[in-house]
Amino acid sequence: MDYDEVRAIDPEVAAALSGEVERQNETLAMIASENHVSEAVLEAQSSVLTNKYAEGYPGSRYYGGCEYADEIEQLAIDRAKDLWGADHVNVQPHSGSQANMGVYLAVLEPGDKILSLDLTHGGHLSHGHPANFAGQVYDVEQYEVDAESGYLDYEGLAEQAEEFEPDIIVSGYSAYPREVDFERIQDVADDVDAYHLADIAHITGLVAAGVHESPVGVADFVTGSTHKTIRSGRGGIIMCDEEYADDVDSAVFPGSQGGPLMHNVAGKAVGFKEALQPEFEEYAAQTVENARALADRLQSHGLELVSGGTDNHLVLIDLRPSHPDTTGKEVEEALEDAGIVLNANTVPGETRSAFNPSGIRAGTPALTTRGFDEEACREVGDLIAKIVDAPGDENVVAEVSERVAELTDEFPLYDDDEPLYE
Ligand SMILES: Cc1ncc(COP(=O)(O)O)c(C=O)c1O
Repeated sequence: MDYDEVRAIDPEVAAALSGEVERQNETLAMIASENHVSEAVLEAQSSVLTNKYAEGYPGSRYYGGCEYADEIEQLAIDRAKDLWGADHVNVQPHSGSQANMGVYLAVLEPGDKILSLDLTHGGHLSHGHPANFAGQVYDVEQYEVDAESGYLDYEGLAEQAEEFEPDIIVSGYSAYPREVDFERIQDVADDVDAYHLADIAHITGLVAAGVHESPVGVADFVTGSTHKTIRSGRGGIIMCDEEYADDVDSAVFPGSQGGPLMHNVAGKAVGFKEALQPEFEEYAAQTVENARALADRLQSHGLELVSGGTDNHLVLIDLRPSHPDTTGKEVEEALEDAGIVLNANTVPGETRSAFNPSGIRAGTPALTTRGFDEEACREVGDLIAKIVDAPGDENVVAEVSERVAELTDEFPLYDDDEPLYE
């Protein structure tokens, strides 16, 4: 990854790209929504397909010369069907947010009602936050997790749905560390005659590998990002029953997008093929084991986790009980100085602002890709706890930074001689 061609034309961008390779190699990516794709996915995403217009769908395009675009998009669709067992798949959404927009546009009218999880309780902007188009176009009410347990409150959701009479209920979250009972949410949706959109952006890979319950075939619509736990490069995906296929397809194109990013569709096809290999199941299971090991170790240092642990790939630390005067942002910045990159996050019942919240979200998908096991993740838990105890102490930051450098050497990432994973 030397970017020689870029360097010859544009040394500034080449230097920044090389800097980013180095940054990814030399830091621990613990942002729960991030991962590292293979060189094969990188190659597909930087292919000549970036040149190609392919408005329409395989076999029915508005442009000529789509023979290879058709082949690749069909491969991505077929592999997604194999991975998740969906009837109908659209692989064209540019991102998870675009996928959600596609579903709303397919079945809602402006002013229709969305019932979704509050952002500060783990929901996502695209589920109807006022800053997002969905919050501006639709009538949104939000549910919350149980204040005591941090778990979804299914009974509360059912009562709220009864009262609000939503047109669609959105499940699937950005910062929820527990297994989601999609069937139970489907029952709530059925009872109030609402659609159910399960947004599995974060857990696409866990669902594909069978380490998290699948909403496919349960919820009316399933959306996701393709660059998180599924490691297929930036993009989005929509899955649904055949009965919604035409509405969904026309909501994506021409409803909300123009030409698909065919180079990204190629990345999805390659990443899905990788995820169909038996090793991917091991990867997904290890990601969850690693998150559990991290959670246990953080708790052993007296840190409080929302819901008391994790069933998936992420943990959410609530700093308030153990470190009431320390904010998430302070910890995020000190950790980044030490080479551990994660994000400050709101926690249920947040008492600070979204910019400087009381929590820290940490995920294991990217660490697991670079080979971390439970033991290594326990050690990362020790390192995080050290910084939480003394975010302003330069000596502690330097000490943690030294150990991070050793760990990144021990678990190399993009290495010209070694594939990241096979
Ligand atoms: C639950 C959920 N939905 C949608 C998205 C949006 O995904 P994207 O960034 O691909 O638009 C995210 C992003 O993290 C998410 O967590």
